[in-house]
Formats: sequence, C-alpha cells, structure tokens
Amino acid sequence: MQTGKGDIAFVRKFQDSDLDEVVNLANSSLTEYYGIDLIYDLARQWPDGFLVYQFGNRVAGFLAGSKYSTNEARILLLAVNRSYRRMGIGSTLVEDFTRICSHLGMMSMRLEVRVDNIEAIDFYKNLKFVIISTMKSYYSDSSDAHIMWRLIS
Ligand SMILES: CC(C)(COP(=O)(O)OP(=O)(O)OC[C@H]1O[C@@H](n2cnc3c(N)ncnc32)[C@H](O)[C@@H]1OP(=O)(O)O)[C@@H](O)C(=O)NCCC(=O)NCCS
Repeated sequence: MQTGKGDIAFVRKFQDSDLDEVVNLANSSLTEYYGIDLIYDLARQWPDGFLVYQFGNRVAGFLAGSKYSTNEARILLLAVNRSYRRMGIGSTLVEDFTRICSHLGMMSMRLEVRVDNIEAIDFYKNLKFVIISTMKSYYSDSSDAHIMWRLIS
C-alpha cells in the first residue's frame, strides 16, 4: 500500500526490533498495563499470529493473537496509534490475521472487550463479530468484558 505521504505501508510479522514501539503503543492505547516481558512472550508463543502494521518506518498498529483451541483463534491485543485511526489499519490487521487462521484450518475467532469501549465494539461489529456473553469483573479495575465471536469463512 502506498500512503498519501509517499510512505510505504504494509502488514508483516513482529520482529524483536519492534518491541519498544509495540509496548509503547499497547500502553498508550489500552487500559491494562502490558510489560515488555509479556509482549515478548506473546510474540514467542505464536510468531505467525503477532502482526504489526508498518507505516513508513513506524509501527502504526499491531495485533497479538493466540490459539484458544485447535479450531478457534483469539485476538489478545489490538491497537492502532491515535494518529493513524479510521484509515482501515485495524481492519487490515484483523483481516490478515483471519487469513492466517483460515490457512491453519481454524473455524472461529473470539476476543474480550471492555463493555464501555463502544468504539472498539463498533469496530468489531463492523467486522462481523457478535457479543456472545459478558464476564463480570474481568479487568484489573473490576470492569466487565464482553466476549465477541465470529466464524472464519
Ligand atoms: C479499535 C481500533 C483498533 C480500530 O482501529 P482503526 O484502524 O481506527 O479502525 P478502522 O479504520 O479499520 O475502522 C473500520 C471501521 O470500524 C468502525 N470504527 C472504527 N473506529 C470507530 C470508532 N471510534 N467509533 C465508531 N466506529 C468505529 C467504523 O465502522 C470504521 O469504518 P469507517 O472509518 O469507514 O467508518 C482503534 O480505535 C484502537 O486502537 N483503539 C484503542 C485500543 C482498543 O480499544 N483496542 C481494542 C481492545 S479489545
């Protein structure tokens, strides 16, 4: 993808050199705290399921996935830098992750989202996710989480 500013933009697998940028992006976008060791461990657990969106020489967004079961994937973390939102980057990351899961024969995807994170809920609904249940006191501040789910087709 060629952006308006002439920067090259594309999705690729996470590299160790992305670690600081991804940790900063996670902690400036998400409400839980994610330490460098946790992010590094996630990338090691499933390297093909940890994607970054490179925009020029910056990481504009990332998605960390995991295998919930043999047939089901889980989006653990997803964030796009504020300056780059509403440009389709989050959708591109989810769609690319979906393709990776599909190639592995996975049938569905799930994720947890704060019940008050209306923007993210709308974003996921736009990508065909539906709310299937709600977990009480899921987050460290006792906020509830919706579980959202969709088929991979
Ligand atoms: C949620 C998030 C990843 C979306 O990333 P993004 O790159 O801005 O999303 P996209 O540009 O692909 O949006 C696609 C569509 O989703 C919906 N959407 C995205 N952001 C939205 C918002 N703030 N309010 C309402 N709908 C929204 C819209 O339908 C949008 O299409 P449109 O721009 O043509 O109207 C981003 O807002 C973010 O990083 N939020 C903070 C972290 C977070 O909440 N992560 C999810 C935790 S589970």
